[in-house]
Amino acid sequence: MAIRITGRTKRLIERDRKVFLSTTRESYPFVADHGEGDLVYDMEGNRFIDFSSFISVYNFGVNANAEVRKAITNQVGKLMHPAFTDYHAELPVKFGEELVTMFPKGFGRMFLSNSGTEANEAAIKFSQLFTKRQYIMAFYSAFHGRTKGSLALTASRAVQRAHFGPFSNTIHVPFAYCYRCPLKQTYPDCGYACVDFIKQYPLKNEVSGREIAAFFIEPIQGEGGYIIPPKGYFKEIKKITDDNGMLLVADEVQSGYMRTGKFLALDHFGVTADIYTMAKSIAGGLPMGVTMVRKSLGDLPAGAHANTFGGNLVSVAAAYALLKHVKRNRRKLEAMAKSKGRRIMKRLEQMRDHYELVGDARGIGMMLAIELVRSKKSKEPAIKERERVLEEAFSNGLLMLPAGESTIRIIPPLTMSVQHIDRGLDVLEDSIKKVNAEMLSSKK
Ligand SMILES: Cc1ncc(COP(=O)(O)O)c(C=O)c1O
Repeated sequence: MAIRITGRTKRLIERDRKVFLSTTRESYPFVADHGEGDLVYDMEGNRFIDFSSFISVYNFGVNANAEVRKAITNQVGKLMHPAFTDYHAELPVKFGEELVTMFPKGFGRMFLSNSGTEANEAAIKFSQLFTKRQYIMAFYSAFHGRTKGSLALTASRAVQRAHFGPFSNTIHVPFAYCYRCPLKQTYPDCGYACVDFIKQYPLKNEVSGREIAAFFIEPIQGEGGYIIPPKGYFKEIKKITDDNGMLLVADEVQSGYMRTGKFLALDHFGVTADIYTMAKSIAGGLPMGVTMVRKSLGDLPAGAHANTFGGNLVSVAAAYALLKHVKRNRRKLEAMAKSKGRRIMKRLEQMRDHYELVGDARGIGMMLAIELVRSKKSKEPAIKERERVLEEAFSNGLLMLPAGESTIRIIPPLTMSVQHIDRGLDVLEDSIKKVNAEMLSSKK
């Protein structure tokens, strides 16, 4: 259904522009007003299907479910801020005890914060403290956050780093982006040449692995373009970390919390990390970050790291209610992510086979994407065309988000009805069809 945007939306966006710095985003003419489940409405009453989960936050439906909302309102009437980094409170302890049961055996002890970047800042500092080493290794096209420590690891878009450096304790290495292999090889014939590269060059010529505290990974690179490495890849990376006594830190901020059909996306690759970070979806729409540490790493000195709002009772109440819901429905949610993910993937593959514009379709569970190209042969990124597809889809009531240079992520809430999924995919395909035709005719 075509949406209708009037001067009201435009005027609101102008007012927004006047009071907020524009560091956060390029303009997207959506003014959120209310929503629930699969759908969200703008300030003019236009209805949208949500294929973005509002940047991977509403994994279980827009505005969380009724249980989570009730837990939030109940807690607001009791106590909001317990100063948990100085005093104690029972609810975060109960939540922590439940959360560790979702992690592999041997986990964990945790630190609570307010966002993904903060969870990663803690992971950087903890790795340095545990190992007494300074350097951190991370991947090109990684995104770990935007505060100075996590930004040092982020290398997905130069604009995110411009003027903020130098970032002297980070070593970046190429990721297994097989659709555009940085070493111009083809998997599996490559024999993991990108892993050999890490061993041959950075670790021999730049910094010894014995000086590196941690290797940060995203099991599926998110902001960098929804890049999924081959199944055996992280086992190779784990050999590097084990051989050098580095910690493996898995940033599950975007890929975790059932998004791929498993609580931890890294489980798809048969590898366990030493530290996990999570945020986004964990408190159903309220701010929270978690840094979860393998127990055998031991404890850290009091005062070494803290914050004010970690353990905020309203966020914890939401996270605890959500966790109980997820635990009760775990099998159902896993099956949902699998079957709905397969259904979406089938359509994306059909689009890839049918339209020149769609170069690649990829995904695990409900973490899916298409990468747009101006030509399947040259793989030239279709940057403007990607914007046009997002615009067209938006005009027809479908909310989506970009990733990487020319990728579109498809991440509806896991709970979305099949009818809304199919309707959203129809809108996406119509948009692709239109922009594909525009692109082909402009080439003539
Ligand atoms: C993998 C990953 N890590 C960290 C972050 C940073 O999270 P936040 O924006 O909550 O600081 C993000 C955000 O997109 C992310 O996708």
